[in-house]
Amino acid sequence: MKLFLGLVTVLVTAISGRRQQPIAPNGDGRANIVVILTDDQDLHMDSVDYMPLLKKQVIDHGTFYKHHYCSTAICCPSRVTLWTGRNAHNTNVTDVFPPYGGYPKFVAQGFNRNWLPLWLQAAGYSTYYTGKLFNAHTIENWNSPHPAGWTSSDFLLDPHTYQYLNASFQRNQYPPVSHEGQYSTDVLAGKAYGLLEEGVQSGKPFFLTVAPMAPHSNVDPFPVTGTPEAALKEIRMTAPISAERHKHLFPDVKVPRRSNFNPEKPGGASWIKRLAKLTDEVIEYNDDFYRARLQTLQAVDELVEGVVTRLEDAGILHNTYIFYTTDNGYHISQHRLNPGKECGFEEDINIPLIVRGPGVPVGESQVVTAQTDLAPTFLKIAGAKWGWDGLDGSPVPLNKKQLENAKKERQEHVNVEFWGRIIPEGKHRFSLDDGKIVDYGPNNTYKALRVVGPKYNLYYSVWCTNEHELYDLTTDPGQLNNIYPTSSSESEITILGVPVSKLLPRLDTLLMVTKSCKGRTCVQPWSVIHPAGNVKTLHGALNKRYDSFYASVSASVSFEKCELGYILESEGPQEAVVFHEGLGNDWLANGEL
Ligand SMILES: *[C@@H]1O[C@H](CO)[C@@H](O)[C@H](O)[C@H]1NC(C)=O
Ligand SMILES: *[C@@H]1O[C@H](CO)[C@@H](O)[C@H](O)[C@H]1NC(C)=O
Ligand SMILES: *[C@@H]1O[C@H](CO)[C@@H](O)[C@H](O)[C@H]1NC(C)=O
Repeated sequence: MKLFLGLVTVLVTAISGRRQQPIAPNGDGRANIVVILTDDQDLHMDSVDYMPLLKKQVIDHGTFYKHHYCSTAICCPSRVTLWTGRNAHNTNVTDVFPPYGGYPKFVAQGFNRNWLPLWLQAAGYSTYYTGKLFNAHTIENWNSPHPAGWTSSDFLLDPHTYQYLNASFQRNQYPPVSHEGQYSTDVLAGKAYGLLEEGVQSGKPFFLTVAPMAPHSNVDPFPVTGTPEAALKEIRMTAPISAERHKHLFPDVKVPRRSNFNPEKPGGASWIKRLAKLTDEVIEYNDDFYRARLQTLQAVDELVEGVVTRLEDAGILHNTYIFYTTDNGYHISQHRLNPGKECGFEEDINIPLIVRGPGVPVGESQVVTAQTDLAPTFLKIAGAKWGWDGLDGSPVPLNKKQLENAKKERQEHVNVEFWGRIIPEGKHRFSLDDGKIVDYGPNNTYKALRVVGPKYNLYYSVWCTNEHELYDLTTDPGQLNNIYPTSSSESEITILGVPVSKLLPRLDTLLMVTKSCKGRTCVQPWSVIHPAGNVKTLHGALNKRYDSFYASVSASVSFEKCELGYILESEGPQEAVVFHEGLGNDWLANGEL
C-alpha cells in the first residue's frame, strides 16, 4: 500500500514538475500565501492521521510543527490573536460574545483599522477570505462595519455559522445568502476556488484564507432570552454533521485510550477536580462524537486537495506558501471532560501547524511556535513595512537554515491564558462528584506557561482560585500528576537535578512577565528579569548564582477573584522583579514592564 502511494506521488510530481516550469508567477515574484484554518481541530486525538489528502498534498511536501500552540483555547480570542499578532491580554477580546468578546468587541478595540489584511494590502498584496471570521459576526451586523482590508471576501455568518446544513454566506458588499440544505464545507470549497482564481487574475501576489468551521460541533440558532447564564442553558452543541458521502467511514474508530482518558483519579484544578468519572453511556456517546468529527474532516481533506491542484494548474504552486492550522485544540473524555476546549491541557493548546512552500524542508520540527507568530510570519513573507509595531510573536522559521538556528536561539515558552467559563459540547452536561449536573464549568480563568526546552517539558498554571498546577510532561505526558508542592507532599521532586522548590520561583517570575507582556517582552521575557541579557532560557535562569535572588522574590502571580473577562484589578501583582548585577545583596528592585 505504502509502495503504491509512493509511486502515485512520484507520478504526480513528474506531471506537476513539467506543468509548472513555463508559467511565470503571478504578481511581482513575491510568494502567495494560502491559509487553511479549521475550527477546533485536535492534534492529540490523531485527527490529522485521518486526512490522507492533507498528507499527500501538504505534509509530505512540508514541515509539521509539532510544538505549535494557541494561547487562548477558544475560537474568537484565538482568531483575533491570529489576525492581529497580539495575545488576548493585549487585544482584550477574551470571549466569543460581547461584552468581553466577539466581532463587536474586535471592532470596539479598534482592530478593524489595524490588522493583518490591511498591512498586507499596504504591502501590495491582494487579500481574500472565505469562511468563519469571528463569533458574533452576524446576518445583522455584517455591514456595521464591514470587515476592512479584504480585496474580496465571503464570510460565514452567525447564527448559522455552525449549521452544517444551513450556512449563511455574505460576499463583498452583498447581503447574506442562505444555503439551506447544502453542505457548508462544499459551499465553502466552491467559494475558495473562486477567490483563488481572483487572486491569480489580480496581477499581484495574494493572501487567501479558507476557514471551514469543521470539525466544530453543530449549533442550531437558539433563543437568547436574557442573561449569558440563560444562553448557556439554551445552547445545544451537538456532534458535527458530515457530508452524506462520508457518513459510513471509520465505523469502529474510538477516541484513543491514552493515560488521561477518563482517569481513575480526578485531576486538574478548580472545577475540573470535581468532575465525576464518565459512565459507559457517556463514553460511547463521546466516541460517536469523535467519529463524526473525523467524518466531517473528510470534506476539508478534499478541499485541501482542491486548493493545491488549482494552485498547481495555475502554475504557482512552487511560489505559494500553504499554512494548515486551526484556532484551538479539543478534548473528548480526557481528564473526565465531555467534548470541548477552553482548558490549558495539551489536547486544547497544542495544535496542528503544517507548512508547505518555497524552501520549506520536508519533515517535522520541534521548535516552539504559537498563533501569535503567524501574523509576523506572513508580514515577513510579504516583505511588509507596516504592521510590525506591538506584535507579540516572531516569524516561524521556514527554511532549513532558520529551522537549524531556531533550535539554538528560539524562545522555548508559550503564554497561555483564559477567562470565563467552560461549556460542555454534546448532549451531556458536566457531572460532578457530588452527583450535581451543571451547564458549564465556572471559574475557568487562569494564567499559564508552557516551557519546552531540550531537557525539560513543563506546564505551570495559576488559577483565579489561586490553585496551582505543575506538570512534568517528560515523565507525565497525560498531565495526571500535579507536582506543585502541597503541605502533604512527602519527598521533593527534582527536575534537571533541581528541586521543584527552586524551579517554581523561576517559573512564577517568568509567568509574571508573560501574563501581561507586550511586543518584544513576549518573545524575550527573560530579558525583563535579567536585563543584562545573559539569561535566555529556563536552563540559564536555573544557574545557582541566581538562587538567592529567586528565593527572595516575594511577589507571585495571583488573583483577587474570578472574573469573566480581563479585569486588571482582579489579576494581582503585575510587575516582575528585576535582577541587578553587582549590587551585593541590594540588587532587588521593582522593575517596570
Ligand atoms: C436557515 O437559515 C435561514 C436564514 O438564513 C433561516 O431563515 C431558516 O429558518 C434556516 N433554516 C433552518 C432549518 O434552520
Ligand atoms: C469560584 O471562585 C470563587 C473565588 O473567586 C469562589 O468563592 C467560588 O466558590 C467559586 N465557585 C465555584 C462554583 O467553584
Ligand atoms: C477589557 O474589556 C472589558 C469589557 O469592555 C473591560 O471591562 C476591561 O476593563 C478591559 N480590560 C482592560 C485591561 O483594558
